[in-house]
Amino acid sequence: MMKIVTIIGARPQFVKAAVVSRALDFFAERHRNKQINEVIVHTGQHYDTNMSDIFFAEMQIPKPHYNLHMGGGYHGVMTGQMLAKIEEILLEEKPDVVLVYGDTNSTIAGALAAVKLHIPVAHVESGLRSFNMRMPEEVNRILTDRISSWLFCPTKKAVNNLQGEGFMRKEMTGKYLIENVGDVMYDAALFYKDIAQPSETLSNVLKEVNYKFYLATIHRAENTDDMVRLKNIIKALECISRNIPVILPLHPRTRNIIQQYNIQLDNIKVIDPVGYFDMITLLEQCQGVLTDSGGVQKEAYFFCKPCITLRDETEWVELVEHGYNVLVGADYDKILQAQKESSAKQLDFSIKLYGDGTAGDKIIQKIVEVVLK
Ligand code: UD1
Ligand code: UDP
Repeated sequence: MMKIVTIIGARPQFVKAAVVSRALDFFAERHRNKQINEVIVHTGQHYDTNMSDIFFAEMQIPKPHYNLHMGGGYHGVMTGQMLAKIEEILLEEKPDVVLVYGDTNSTIAGALAAVKLHIPVAHVESGLRSFNMRMPEEVNRILTDRISSWLFCPTKKAVNNLQGEGFMRKEMTGKYLIENVGDVMYDAALFYKDIAQPSETLSNVLKEVNYKFYLATIHRAENTDDMVRLKNIIKALECISRNIPVILPLHPRTRNIIQQYNIQLDNIKVIDPVGYFDMITLLEQCQGVLTDSGGVQKEAYFFCKPCITLRDETEWVELVEHGYNVLVGADYDKILQAQKESSAKQLDFSIKLYGDGTAGDKIIQKIVEVVLK
């Protein structure tokens, strides 16, 4: 019998965990002699229905056993309170492994609570680096990697980053593992694209823009919390919107700041954050993507769309190297130039950068090999 506690809390983690939970069920079905029990802890970092519940419903993620309701507030308070609550749960549940995803405050809180109780941590999406320590995500990633026993990397580059920091294949426990398994978000895109149906609300929006549009998302602190950057980006999206509609599913963080500073959005087609199925529809049907999201950069490539990234650096460097993605920061002229060029681009999306769509299975297989031996 093996028990895994999965810690999730923010939107991208629901997408990633959906893949691994499904792989776990699949494994358990094929190996009835190996009992695996997954206990899901939702920290509550994201809590609006369309930032959380909709993903559980659409992607059929098992209902969390615990919801800590720890959304909002400063990073220190949020992370500290999560840490204390997760520790209580781990003491009660006594799992063999704690599974964490990505680079949010929920990730580091889960990993830290586990390692202090000597419970091995498996980190999915390990080894990514932006080399920008001002990003909260970079701090979370580096610290989580340092205290994890299983470092599941999505790319060769991520493995190289870890090795460059002195990580070796086996260290101390003898259980220490670094493995390039591919990207779980690729697994998700492959699996859900065949079943995703757009909502009626989105179908009406698509009709309104005559099925020709760019898709934009903005939520990174480096953009939302810097008025010059945010205004430049909005001005550029407004300008693009005069030629081709731009649909912007607005993250609550950005919505709050836009309201607070009374920033006008006249032409951009702003909609509420959408569920994963609507997002797939938007990615499938758009002409191109403008984003500062980590996940959406890759999804643009999965759905064969050129991507313009509204950041100064990216962890997904292979997308830039292959010309699928252009980094423009928050520079008004560069954004407009990149959009013009992207509409004329002929890109070959046949190169496979993120594995073969079985990252979830590989992760479960590896954990089971060690824990159940
Ligand atoms: C977090 C992650 C970021 C990730 C993003 C995905 C950290 C440090 N940041 O950023 O890495 O890219 O999630 O979307 O963990 N809010 C709501 N409703 C919600 C969720 C948030 O209104 O359901 C508002 C709250 O005012 C909250 C603010 O958004 O204070 C920011 O949320 P938070 O989870 O702190 O950070 P994100 O910007 O979402
Ligand atoms: N996403 C979504 N609806 C939206 C915006 C994003 O379903 O309105 C999905 C997106 O397709 C991807 C994930 O959320 O799978 C990315 O999350 P986000 O951009 O919030 O975080 P990041 O990847 O930057 O950490």
